[in-house]
Amino acid sequence: MIDDRVRAEMIFYATTHDYSDAARYERFALDCKLDRKALEIGGVINNLSAHISSSGKPLAILETASATGLTAAGVTTQLARFGITHTYTSLDIEPNLLQYAKERGRGDVFVRGDFERLPFAADAFDIYIMMGAGGYRTDGMFYPEVHRVLRVGGYYVMPQIGPNPFANTSEIHTALQSGLSIVRADHYLIAQKSIVIVPSPTP
Ligand SMILES: C[S@@+](CC[C@H](N)C(=O)[O-])C[C@H]1O[C@@H](n2cnc3c(N)ncnc32)[C@H](O)[C@@H]1O
Repeated sequence: MIDDRVRAEMIFYATTHDYSDAARYERFALDCKLDRKALEIGGVINNLSAHISSSGKPLAILETASATGLTAAGVTTQLARFGITHTYTSLDIEPNLLQYAKERGRGDVFVRGDFERLPFAADAFDIYIMMGAGGYRTDGMFYPEVHRVLRVGGYYVMPQIGPNPFANTSEIHTALQSGLSIVRADHYLIAQKSIVIVPSPTP
């Protein structure tokens, strides 16, 4: 059961798209228990990390639409528990949210930017996390950018939240179209950038 205050905040964010008051968004996110969700996401990332060959380098994690960094806090707490070294890059379009996360040490690198035009080199990340901001994608470049910045073997992780927390068919289809392979599609959409084997022409 969602209480009236949380419902009013949901309507506020859905209608204004105004995330400039970081403390207000943090209160809403905590009311939605996104701090607990973040620990669960950390467990999922920990499991995926066992399948990534990083040649001893820290796991490179990108989260976009990172807001006040609650997901970063939960994921980095879990990875530290399991002794997995990592660098966590947080990207959001709203500078006040990034500043709030940075002041609290929720992540390592903070970048203001648009998740449909990522300011990162190709093949830069092992894990890419995005949660709860699908509705802000406008021009079809989100998944091509996910595919571009992930290393081969890297994973895209999209935890499902809200009233109907299941990966939907159109999301799965769009991820597939960008060249990702689907690993899991339930309460999480997890997709992998796989090696594409091009058959050599027959002589
Ligand atoms: C509902 S919040 C997402 C929930 C958030 N992941 C969390 O853990 O609390 C929406 C977020 O998307 C961000 N956002 C909206 N459009 C964006 C864009 N084009 N690129 C990056 N971030 C964007 C907003 O600034 C806001 O932080």
